[in-house]
Amino acid sequence: MSKIDVLVVWPNRPEQMQMLADTYELHRYDQASAEEKAAMIGAVGDKIRAVATTHGGGFDETLLAQLPNLEIVCSSSVGLDTICVEACHKRGIPVTNTPDVLTDDVADMAMMLTLTTLRRMLPAVDWIQSGHWVEKGMMPLNTSLKGKTLGIVGLGRIGKAIAARAEAFGMNVSYFSRQAKTDVDYRHYDDLVALAKDVDVLAPVIPGGPATEGLISREVLSALGEDSYFINVSRGSVVDEQALVELLEQRAIKGAGLDVFVDEPNVPQALLSMDHVVLQPHCASGTYETRAAMAQLVVDNLAAHFAGKPLLTPVIL
Ligand code: 8YV
Repeated sequence: MSKIDVLVVWPNRPEQMQMLADTYELHRYDQASAEEKAAMIGAVGDKIRAVATTHGGGFDETLLAQLPNLEIVCSSSVGLDTICVEACHKRGIPVTNTPDVLTDDVADMAMMLTLTTLRRMLPAVDWIQSGHWVEKGMMPLNTSLKGKTLGIVGLGRIGKAIAARAEAFGMNVSYFSRQAKTDVDYRHYDDLVALAKDVDVLAPVIPGGPATEGLISREVLSALGEDSYFINVSRGSVVDEQALVELLEQRAIKGAGLDVFVDEPNVPQALLSMDHVVLQPHCASGTYETRAAMAQLVVDNLAAHFAGKPLLTPVIL
């Protein structure tokens, strides 16, 4: 029996790629040049029954339209902002993502950025490496987490995991969401500007996409104020990045820890030389353990689908 044809828009971890290769006929769209991509779709587009992708690879309506026999799209990401989920659903094509398995690592990254930014870890490393400790003595003081308030925008699974960690560091937690959650005691705000005014650290933990684009506006960032910090492990698109850069330049915000940007991998030049900013290359989920678990969900969802079993992590809009 011939193998089921799968289009690989973005590769997975080697072990899981091998599992896929053992079971399916893989078409490596990810490795093809623009010309080869067009030729590949022309040759096998109507045979493709599944797509494996991730946030970085995405999956758009143009490609969807060229795959008439597509049955399932599996993304190795929790975020779906680069994937045309609605259009897939309209055609009756389920989409799977990777919730839960990355929650802890992403929450750890949010805390790592909070600690590194407030405690000024990178300038401290530089203080030693540049010889300042010897020449100038002790470095200037930094800021404690204990007693500060973290304002989380959106209190989903990852937001809650960050909140639990922040509490362990002695922080207070407030949050913004349209409706108050009944399962937490944290202070609820339904006004983002009011939340930003009241907190010491503001952290959006919300999905990207049109619904949240620019939600953390210049007004919200300005309300945060010169003694407060901004931490982002969600999507660059949720913040007015230009306003963020300007306010950081003016020291109207005290510091920022950023894992995500509007136009990845292009980071605004001005951020690169700021010593009150800590940058990470979108790697909050980038541990061996978590990426393997995410990749395995792609393998397992595909297996479930082709065995006629319920999907493990279907996206429900
Ligand atoms: C990675 C992410 O960018 O899951 C997401 O939505 O943003 C990250 O985990 C990516 O998906 C890993 O390939």
